[in-house]
Amino acid sequence: MKKVLLIFGTRPEAIKMCPLVNELKGRKGFETTVCVTGQHKEMLEQVLTVFDVKPDYNLAIMTKNQTLEGVTAKILNLLGEVLDEVKPDVILVHGDTTTSFVAALAGFYRQIPIGHVEAGLRTHDIYSPFPEEFNRQAVGLVAKYHFAPTEESAENLIAEGKNKDNIYVTGNTVVDAIKITISKEHSHEAIEWAKDSRLILLTAHRRESIGEPMRHMFRAIKRVIEEHPDCKVVYPIHMNPVVRQIAAEEFAGVDRIRLIEPLDVVDFHHFMDQSYLILTDSGGIQEEACSIGKPVLVMRDKTERSEGVKSGSLKLVGTDEERIYHEMKELLENPEEYQRMHHAKNPYGDGFASKYIADILEANL
Ligand code: UD1
Ligand code: UDP
Repeated sequence: MKKVLLIFGTRPEAIKMCPLVNELKGRKGFETTVCVTGQHKEMLEQVLTVFDVKPDYNLAIMTKNQTLEGVTAKILNLLGEVLDEVKPDVILVHGDTTTSFVAALAGFYRQIPIGHVEAGLRTHDIYSPFPEEFNRQAVGLVAKYHFAPTEESAENLIAEGKNKDNIYVTGNTVVDAIKITISKEHSHEAIEWAKDSRLILLTAHRRESIGEPMRHMFRAIKRVIEEHPDCKVVYPIHMNPVVRQIAAEEFAGVDRIRLIEPLDVVDFHHFMDQSYLILTDSGGIQEEACSIGKPVLVMRDKTERSEGVKSGSLKLVGTDEERIYHEMKELLENPEEYQRMHHAKNPYGDGFASKYIADILEANL
């Protein structure tokens, strides 16, 4: 029996790790343990509930307005004890959050092999997104198994000199998650509210967007919505209090823009499915939109999801107010451009990434 310890802590990691937790738990050869850091609280719990995953450890470190150094230090201090107790044969971490970086570092300090799920995404700019590009590169440095979602991410790892034999192209586990969430029965009052309009789904939370860039995004969206009475915006808003304050100030008094609490992932995927267009600075939503076939304007200067840009589902539009205003209008007013993005191909795999990762672990541990 091989011991696998999965460590994650935020909403997006949970969405992409829970299908893998359930796959591993269904196999006889593994003793599967889940440790959540609790970098997120409510937004993490929503996901655990949907996938019915009950963590064996919860470090519960979240505080309001937490800092990078606070999160880093708390997790690192607490994880050593968990590793000593579980004594895993492999630790699996996901992506690029502070939880992922610190969990990989803690494993490295105990010389435990690390498997990196969603490996090899790169912008090659350590400050963008910040601090995620550093986190994912740092995890890559100590990982033994690199589970790359696409050939392009595998190429990034090879270009950095990683051993080809340790890189596996599996697809992205988010496609596995969508297969589960979208199959569920669904209705939501805010979808009803927007049913006779074109629904625009908005999310924005990135650290480097907070402040003026975020205000520019929101002002552009507000101007377009005021000019298009047939459109309504739903913004399930991240729980970061700073993001909430900016959104409340910028969108005050606009009837056709609704700010709602974070949706659980079943709701969110159905909102994506029902939407006409998505505006976001999120990472994971870029992948999901490619899978669901929805056009996305990515409100960032750089993206590590270049496959989606090449396939045509994503357009990188930066954070300048005029640019976002014009790109949004173009998609709403030019049906040809809309159809081009709408029919793009999904580059993120067949929805069996968790199975492939479990097979690889079975063969190698
Ligand atoms: C983190 C990740 C980011 C990821 C994002 C997903 C890092 C450095 N950042 O950023 O890569 O894109 O998660 O959403 O790892 N909060 C709550 N309840 C929650 C979650 C957050 O109240 O369930 C509030 C707290 O006040 C917290 C703040 O949001 O202090 C920020 O959370 P934090 O995890 O530090 O940063 P994110 O912006 O969520
Ligand atoms: N998501 C969700 N509810 C919401 C908004 C997003 O479940 O209200 C999901 C979304 O489907 C995606 C993930 O959260 O899988 C993206 O998380 P986020 O944008 O917070 O982080 P990022 O992907 O940018 O790291």
